[in-house]
Amino acid sequence: MYDSSTQFDFRDPHVGYAQLAEALGALLSDEHDPIANAANTAALLFAALPEINWAGFYFARGRELVVGPFQGKPACVRIPFGRGVCGAAAERRAAIVVPDVQTFADHIACDAASRSEVVVPLIERQSLLGVLDLDSPRSGRFGEVDARALERIAGIYLGASRFGAER
Ligand code: SME
Repeated sequence: MYDSSTQFDFRDPHVGYAQLAEALGALLSDEHDPIANAANTAALLFAALPEINWAGFYFARGRELVVGPFQGKPACVRIPFGRGVCGAAAERRAAIVVPDVQTFADHIACDAASRSEVVVPLIERQSLLGVLDLDSPRSGRFGEVDARALERIAGIYLGASRFGAER
């Protein structure tokens, strides 16, 4: 069962992400709705992870990404595949870590405070459903440990959610 008083110890990211994965599994265990689960996933990530100023989802709609549930400042709504960090991750179907957004030529600034970013694709049965995006006000905030752990988090989200069965 999900325990809202859980503390996440990110002094060791492996420990923090293991606690986060367990908490997310419990939080989503009784619900299949992809929007409800995205909302709670974004809220949990934003509450648990240190040094984050945006955490949320973009969903694939044709050849565009459209913003979904998130925590943080209001964000750009539509991002064509191939544009920005999110669109690049969607097109490549691979996680992208950007240690310094000012050096990523096509970065789309939603919150001027963002300095680094990580985006992981949401892929189910070879279909790209969207991306999970996290921003930090500190450059170099994310590394490969974060990318791999967030892929696992995305997998927990996808495993709990039934796309196309909302109605
Ligand atoms: N920076 C992203 C846009 C989304 S916001 O960070 C929420 C990008 O370049 O794709």
